Amino acid sequence: MAKITYIAFDGTEYVVEAKDGSTVMENAVRNAVPGIEAECGGACACATCHVYVDPAWVEATGEPEPMEEDMLDFAHDVQPTSRLSCQIRVSPALDGLVVRVPESQG
Ligand code: FES
Repeated sequence: MAKITYIAFDGTEYVVEAKDGSTVMENAVRNAVPGIEAECGGACACATCHVYVDPAWVEATGEPEPMEEDMLDFAHDVQPTSRLSCQIRVSPALDGLVVRVPESQG
């Protein structure tokens, strides 16, 4: 399990207990975190699960795979810590993870 904090665009924090092996996107959807649309259901094919990883967690979440990099080109307002949340897998190493949800997904 890992505790994940999602910070919505309006500043509201959503704290979620996430199961190992699930994705950061799935936990957002399951807990109705606003702003994560995840239209493709986690196939890395829509870029509407875009989040900004808190700078303190960039190392722990790792680098995006090439496929994710390509899809990130379609995300809105991409920043250096942008990731697609369906491509971040929860593990105990991510306990305490903080991600911010962008203003819009497109
Ligand atoms: Fe579609 Fe992540 S849910 S790319």
